[in-house]
Amino acid sequence: MESKLLNILPMDSEVSSNGHLIVGGCDVIELSEKYGTPLYVYDESTIHSMAESFTKEFSNRYSNSRILYASKAYINPAIAKLSIQHGLGIDIVSGGELAVAASVDFPSEDIFFHGNNKSRSEISEAIDYGVGQFVADSFYEIDLINEIAADRSKLQKVMLRLSPGIDGHTHKKTTTGILDTKFGFSIETGDALKAIKHVQSSDNLDLTGIHFHLGSPIFEMEPYDLAIRSVIEFLAPLIHSGFNMRDFSPGGGFAVGYTAEKSPPAIAEYAETIARTLIESCDKFDIPYPRLLVEPGRSIVARAGIAMYTVGAIKDIPGLRKYVSVDGGMGDNIRPALYDSQYEVIVANKLNDTDKEVVRVVGKYCETGDILASSVELPVCSSGDIIVLPTSGAYGMSMSSNYNLNPRPAVVMVSNGNSKIIRRRETYTDLMRCDEFE
Ligand SMILES: Cc1ncc(COP(=O)(O)O)c(C=O)c1O
Repeated sequence: MESKLLNILPMDSEVSSNGHLIVGGCDVIELSEKYGTPLYVYDESTIHSMAESFTKEFSNRYSNSRILYASKAYINPAIAKLSIQHGLGIDIVSGGELAVAASVDFPSEDIFFHGNNKSRSEISEAIDYGVGQFVADSFYEIDLINEIAADRSKLQKVMLRLSPGIDGHTHKKTTTGILDTKFGFSIETGDALKAIKHVQSSDNLDLTGIHFHLGSPIFEMEPYDLAIRSVIEFLAPLIHSGFNMRDFSPGGGFAVGYTAEKSPPAIAEYAETIARTLIESCDKFDIPYPRLLVEPGRSIVARAGIAMYTVGAIKDIPGLRKYVSVDGGMGDNIRPALYDSQYEVIVANKLNDTDKEVVRVVGKYCETGDILASSVELPVCSSGDIIVLPTSGAYGMSMSSNYNLNPRPAVVMVSNGNSKIIRRRETYTDLMRCDEFE
């Protein structure tokens, strides 16, 4: 296998002498036989390594920093426990993510509740659990949190999500820091200033800080640099006149290597840019250094996870194209259909094969757009081959659906040659468990 591919597979991946992919010390073909496909496999050591790197690279440059895992990338009890183990806080965006965090007794102070339209019941559940902070996103929500906190005689900490008007140069469906977005209070329109004053005059809210998130995945440093400078410039007069900004977050959005050709910047590069820019901006305006909260999601789990499928039907249209169909697709990975995302494809049982052809890898869903890889050169495939998509650990399972009533895949964690199920495969009974039969 090309060494470039090893850079996007889980960290301790290798090829066995018989041409099988080995991840976390486990032969993935044996995993497919043991657990079936489609299957998501997470390498625990890669998650450990990413969590440690983020903590180290940011705290080396900015000692008062904290990493919050953006759980929307993928959360279940096992992953939540790894976050606790690494001392990460967690960014949640729904009552469901809160419920998973609560199921493993996630320390409530370390939970940050984001989202542009949290419901009354979600806010109530979160306040009752004692979540550390809400990241408020609208005037409606500021009032709702204040009202619910008042009912419970609580002073609730909140941050405000601003929209700094900076483009992260990512896909139009994943850019979030520009003016024309549903997220955050715009600095440009004056809403950001109004929101800060509104929280400050709300009796049951304590405004601890300011947040923004530019989008994802962001391959450039400049958007972080520009956004931090302009947000601190906007905040400086307010801080001088009494706003005690204890927390500051430039969100997440750090890129990962989906294809062997496009390497992401190192975590150290993001950390260097963010820490240096924040320090320079605070020095420039003579304001105290806040705690720095960083919210990586994708970059913690994407590389750790692979998706595995079995090849079924193969259709050759002579002179045009060969379609290789697998037993999963857009139901477990909507990203290619939604964002035109690109993936590498590996035939995990034929790594030593040299006879290759260009094919389109498609899923089993009743949609023409159910394409996992539009045009890839693979060893000549036959039914029963095991196909692996590397870098599948983020926003695959977490965005999965039961479209066409396909049960969601099982999820396995591998470590040191051992494997264990962390989410069992759904059954047909699961598919009908909310339906009424009377
Ligand atoms: C507020 C916020 N923080 C962090 C993230 C995580 O982004 P990523 O997974 O790309 O790091 C997101 C993603 O949507 C987000 O909305």
